[in-house]
Amino acid sequence: MNASSPSPAQNQATTTSLYGGVTNRRVTVRDLAAAKQRGEKWSMLTAYDALTAGVFDEAGTPVLLVGDSAGNCHLGYETTVPVTMDQMVMLSAAVVRGTKRAMIVADLPFGSYQESPAQAMHNAARLMKEAGVGAVKLEGGERSARSIELLVEAGIPVMAHIGLTPQSVHAYGGYPVQGRGDEAAHQLLRDAKAVQQSGAFAVVLEAVPAELAAQVTEQLMIPTVGIGGGPDTDAQVLVWTDMAGMTAGRVPKFVKQYADLRAVLGDAARAFAEDVRGGAFPAEEHSFH
Ligand code: KIV
Repeated sequence: MNASSPSPAQNQATTTSLYGGVTNRRVTVRDLAAAKQRGEKWSMLTAYDALTAGVFDEAGTPVLLVGDSAGNCHLGYETTVPVTMDQMVMLSAAVVRGTKRAMIVADLPFGSYQESPAQAMHNAARLMKEAGVGAVKLEGGERSARSIELLVEAGIPVMAHIGLTPQSVHAYGGYPVQGRGDEAAHQLLRDAKAVQQSGAFAVVLEAVPAELAAQVTEQLMIPTVGIGGGPDTDAQVLVWTDMAGMTAGRVPKFVKQYADLRAVLGDAARAFAEDVRGGAFPAEEHSFH
């Protein structure tokens, strides 16, 4: 075995659960393919910083996505459109530093790959080299097929994203469900097959009817990752701020909220302020002499 050949541990896809089966290395595309083979469903969460990513990594989440949803969920923009490559590199590098075991996938933001496959290659290489991610994600089915092919040929694992593609929010005029009606459903199937054919290792299906997502999942060899795609995809992804109750206001119908962190943090901040106002903090045990 030379320095560049994979070790037996790296070579071996997990045959047990993604949660318990890989502890001494990062999850790989081979592990995800093996999970599909044995019918194991898995979860993916977004992450935008080292601390939060570390929590999810320790909890066993096998794949973390540095989504360009950082735009509206972390950086204070209204949409994902303004997010830049420099921002994605910075956030992705933090997530990589904060984790040991999860596969880290980073989004190529709007305007960083649509121009040409060469542009996609240049920016995907930045995410791999400067941030150290294990894979990139980009939006689009047939329209992104040539770029996916080039990246995969160059050794970059690509997760595709079809159905509702949030970078097109201005063209849609909102975030409408996709794939309704025969023609749209056929297009979604064509998109799914095109990204698989181009070498994508997985595909996100966003905001599509559950029956259609099930049909795509059945017809593809690669894992499907649903968000608003019903219960039958191979994996499910949620934006962490939605999942943990940090998002202010309404969340999409497909979100399940597993905690109420916004209330917890608000209560903590109010209790701190009260202690300071009343002189209860700092107490003797918090003081130096
Ligand atoms: O940017 C993001 O968080 C995403 C998920 C919604 C899949 O693309």
